[in-house]
Amino acid sequence: MNPVKQIVQEKYAAAARQAAAGQTACCGGSPSGDAADPITSGLYDEAQKLGLPEKAVLASLGCGNPTALAALQPGETVLDLGSGGGIDVLLSARRVGPTGKAIGLDMTDDMLALARENQQKAGIANVEFLKGDIENIPLPANSVDVIISNCVINLAADKDQVLREAFRVLKPGGRLAVSDVVVRGQVPDELRQNMLLWVGCLAGALEEQQYRSKLAAAGFTGIEIEPSRIYSIEDARAFLTGQGVDVDAMAPAVEGKFLSAFIHAAKPAATPRPAIQIFDPALCCSTGLCGVDVDPALVNFSADLAWAQQNGVSIERFNLAQQPLAFAENPTVRSFLERSGPQALPLVLLHGEVALAGRYPTRAELTRWTGLLPIAPETKPAGACCPGSSCC
Ligand SMILES: C[S@@+](CC[C@H](N)C(=O)[O-])C[C@H]1O[C@@H](n2cnc3c(N)ncnc32)[C@H](O)[C@@H]1O
Repeated sequence: MNPVKQIVQEKYAAAARQAAAGQTACCGGSPSGDAADPITSGLYDEAQKLGLPEKAVLASLGCGNPTALAALQPGETVLDLGSGGGIDVLLSARRVGPTGKAIGLDMTDDMLALARENQQKAGIANVEFLKGDIENIPLPANSVDVIISNCVINLAADKDQVLREAFRVLKPGGRLAVSDVVVRGQVPDELRQNMLLWVGCLAGALEEQQYRSKLAAAGFTGIEIEPSRIYSIEDARAFLTGQGVDVDAMAPAVEGKFLSAFIHAAKPAATPRPAIQIFDPALCCSTGLCGVDVDPALVNFSADLAWAQQNGVSIERFNLAQQPLAFAENPTVRSFLERSGPQALPLVLLHGEVALAGRYPTRAELTRWTGLLPIAPETKPAGACCPGSSCC
């Protein structure tokens, strides 16, 4: 295991054992016990904590409240990256209701044991805790509506990989809604390390613009980073002094630069590929229904296409005389033309694959391909043979 991951795991296993023993879990250099931790305290209001097991609240080690900020809807599937003692998973499960599901992913056994105990005590059924690494999410692609995470991505050794994995498992149109520690602008290296140690970020928080670039590189759009808490050097004075930092001299370099933020972005909705694409031979107009000698097969076919389109089938049609580029730019069509020549047109693609060549499809074929019910008399292919019959 990567050494950073191992240290993170040991640290959070100890924190889980603290919470399991009824103490407030504590990490980083921030104070524990009676003193309010400026990072983890006061994140959840009383109404949210109501009905949650005490140990789930004690184990809360986040730096925000992503479930309050992510607009979760009944029926949605939510995945929490680095779910810890499970507080955000349990809150999400309530929000998505019995028709939805909340999944917690964590690599630390003690945290998973605590989270499962908390789930049992809370009596919430639509929850699953999985063991695994957020850099290699054990879920299929396009399976999750919303990804939340609370102060975990900063701990990851390979943040690009985490964001790529988050993008992979989100459904098209799915949302990422995470709380995380972010650094705003440039900070001297040593001070940055000390501040991040205080916050508890072992592997390091990202600079705000870097976070944006990495999200965009993973494919996310609509990226927003909104500060939820800005830390003051006074919050960290005792810790930094203990590290030998001259706090007063360094104050201007820290002020306003370390923050907890709510970061949200989306996986773009899939643009549906046209279900049917027709590549016509050179015709006098886009449908061939022009001039004096109109082929009756084309009339029937145009009527069938209009019927399929009215029933929601996505159709694109290209005419070699008018749109030669569409033929050249489609590799399937180009290689078909190279092999068979333009006299072998029309060519019909179904979901990008060749479905028919040399004639237009019948309504029966369109019906079968698109799963539509036939509502008008079927057309016969003219000028070509019906497969398996003698209607030439
Ligand atoms: C700061 S705690 C946050 C826990 C929880 N999100 C909360 O708000 O209380 C970080 C959690 O992330 C988990 N974690 C850190 N790195 C991880 C990784 N690479 N894969 C899976 N879990 C990870 C740790 O085990 C720990 O439970």
